[in-house]
Amino acid sequence: MHKIVVKGGSRLEGTVHISGAKNAALPILIATLLTDGVHRIVNVPNLADISSTLSLLGRMGCPSLISGDGQEAVQEITIDATNIAFCEAPYDLVRKMRASVLVLGPLLARKGYAKVSLPGGCAIGNRPVDQHLKGLEAMGCTFEIKGGYIEGTVSHLKGAEIHLDMPTVGGTENIMMAAVLADGITTIHNAAREPEIVDLANFLRSMGARIQGEGTSTLVIDGVPALRPSRQPYSVMGDRIEAATYMLAAMMTRGSITLTGVPVADISFLCNIVKEAGGQIQMHNASSLTVSHSGPITPVSVVTAPHPGFATDMQAQWMTVMSIADGSSTVTEKIFENRFMHVPELARLGANIQTDGRVAHIQGVSTLHGATVMATDLRASASLILAGLVAEGQTEVLRVYHLDRGYANLVEKMKGLGATIGRFASSETVTL
Ligand code: UD1
Repeated sequence: MHKIVVKGGSRLEGTVHISGAKNAALPILIATLLTDGVHRIVNVPNLADISSTLSLLGRMGCPSLISGDGQEAVQEITIDATNIAFCEAPYDLVRKMRASVLVLGPLLARKGYAKVSLPGGCAIGNRPVDQHLKGLEAMGCTFEIKGGYIEGTVSHLKGAEIHLDMPTVGGTENIMMAAVLADGITTIHNAAREPEIVDLANFLRSMGARIQGEGTSTLVIDGVPALRPSRQPYSVMGDRIEAATYMLAAMMTRGSITLTGVPVADISFLCNIVKEAGGQIQMHNASSLTVSHSGPITPVSVVTAPHPGFATDMQAQWMTVMSIADGSSTVTEKIFENRFMHVPELARLGANIQTDGRVAHIQGVSTLHGATVMATDLRASASLILAGLVAEGQTEVLRVYHLDRGYANLVEKMKGLGATIGRFASSETVTL
């Protein structure tokens, strides 16, 4: 087990390249199951969740090859999806990564059968998959839940009108992946509008799928009899959450960071909030911007919402910025019912935060103090690193395997910007 140790006080400055988006790469890699042949995907982030996905595909009989020496933040991946020998996502892999449930749609579409371990609860809430199943059932699939597994079968996938109860990202992706091979037209109403859905639609289209309306709440998919691998290597979009995290690092350290590889158009909501809080943003082009901050941070309250609203995946990091703002603010979490586990950890660093149900009340403090803290989930761990960048003294963040799921080469990238930071064995005694 590893820990990350940060010594606070360095002003971050320089340029950082943002990796491909985890939440786009996962469904795209899984979508290769839809057709036989060899697929090439580039700009895939080097993350634990990507390794888990490749293990899952490998166990199904689809081997993959990763270019390079495994050290780069992004990589090129070749997947041979010619044969699917085993239509199952076992418990040991789904437990590590809930997104494994996305194999349901592609396996049912290509093989007519899928067996996937029930994702169960996770640290940030219950996260059921009822909407995924409801959509697939409308298309003719039948499901049986037994022994902790969802077992689905279908003899003839047919297009359907599907109304989602909430704009679920994974649910929209699962249904969309099944619908591309269904007989007839599928319309998904109240679909998720996240940019990663648009990236998946673009990838599916590069394989011959017919999709309209991605990025809006009505997706129309006209099923085709077969797909084929994309002719050109497909490049995954940049990671808007990683980008946002570095933008907030610039604000907190009163630094100036230029980001490249950013899907600038997809982070306009956050850019407005950063400006409201006193940050300066200079747009360079569609994939690059500079964020800088000097002087006090103005408190800005946020409420999480589906895209294009304030992303729940940025909530913990924003709360950290607000914990050193010049006054009080609130963060309201509307997507997940239990996503404040970072609050007691931030409190260990001196933050003044009280929670009341889904609302966190934050009173900004002038200084945070280094301490040993525990990462509880992926984005919570990023919030603790941000806090460590400005805390007096040294902060040790334990259980960084959460961070490894979503931030490619974080330590190297932060060092490149001037942070005093390192990764060590948990048992090591470290003084930076
Ligand atoms: C995805 C993202 C995750 C992000 C989340 C919300 C990936 C791999 N992960 O997760 O980083 O935080 O979107 O933006 O892309 N729900 C149901 N029934 C369902 C499905 C969802 O009740 O069948 C509820 C969930 O419990 C949750 C809400 O809907 O409260 C949103 O979940 P969803 O959009 O599905 O998130 P994920 O796809 O799991």
